[in-house]
Amino acid sequence: MKKITVKASKIYDITIGAGILDQAGLIMSQTAGISCNAVRTGKTAAVITDDNVSRLYEKRLVDSLSANGYRAVSYVFPNGESSKNTGTFISILNFLAEKQLSRADIVVALGGGVTGDLAGFAAACYLRGIHFVQIPTTLLSIVDSSVGGKTAVNLASGKNLAGAFYQPDAVICDVTLLSTLSDDVFRDGCAEIIKTGVIADRVLFESLKEPVKNHLEEVIIRCIEIKRDVVAEDEFETGVRKFLNFGHTAGHAIELLSGYLISHGHAVAAGMAIAARMAVVLGICDTNCLKDILQMLQLYGLPENSVYSAGDIARVCLSDKKREGDSITMILPVETGKCVLRNIPVNDLEKVIQSGLEITL
Ligand code: GLY
Repeated sequence: MKKITVKASKIYDITIGAGILDQAGLIMSQTAGISCNAVRTGKTAAVITDDNVSRLYEKRLVDSLSANGYRAVSYVFPNGESSKNTGTFISILNFLAEKQLSRADIVVALGGGVTGDLAGFAAACYLRGIHFVQIPTTLLSIVDSSVGGKTAVNLASGKNLAGAFYQPDAVICDVTLLSTLSDDVFRDGCAEIIKTGVIADRVLFESLKEPVKNHLEEVIIRCIEIKRDVVAEDEFETGVRKFLNFGHTAGHAIELLSGYLISHGHAVAAGMAIAARMAVVLGICDTNCLKDILQMLQLYGLPENSVYSAGDIARVCLSDKKREGDSITMILPVETGKCVLRNIPVNDLEKVIQSGLEITL
């Protein structure tokens, strides 16, 4: 079992290990603030999960919570990005109120990024904030979304447009849960791992030439360490955290344009390829860097382009959070392991995205 401590506005541990879902109640009972201590036993843990994950893992979690003195209640919603909306969010708040959770109680997100984002935002808003634990069950949520406190729901105009920075009290990553992921869902996580390599660690990037499944735990730990450092330096994304959005500007637009049929990791992969081509056209990186990124995406069966037009992608990008007044911040690679922020004037965006869709090697 490995522990990585995040030092943000809240200090918390990420515990990584094999089979630790069955110890989730024990880990929580040993965590300050959320333990069932002598003063008040029987805290309520509200497990928020989707129907797929519920079938696979909810009972094991509930058993572990009950064995450690928690009163477990569960809210199950239909799986998929289309559930990440204000309707589900309000239903979760009503569920917490009906079950009479107090500020001493805990919301436990059991699932992937959608579950963590929804449950985390509900935990941030209910009673102006109650305790929150993340138990990520996908590769993407282990290496990215469960760490760092970003929570949100989608609005009709765009992805993650309503949300909060709200750090969890604990993150519990059981790597054996990844064995039930479909290839496509596993690949979503690979896209975020490739992203982490491109923005921060050339050695990590190069190591991905060996199939990630051969050294998965090591890669997971490296990605979480990088994210820990970024979040400790810039929790509220005024600086260095922006780099974690590499591939996400066009990626979020592609997700929305597809009606969320293209999943987050696949859309981010296309977004990274678009950004890398832009970087070549803008003279920020050379074609070798672009080739390296495209080859890595190919190796993991991820898309390198999008069927949507530059005009459509640009239009959706304009309602993205990364827009600031008359410009939008793009994260562009200089070389693998290093990116820069570039403000693209809104009026040039379509033309620049067009270059990101077009150039061939
Ligand atoms: N997923 C990007 C971030 O946490 O900042």
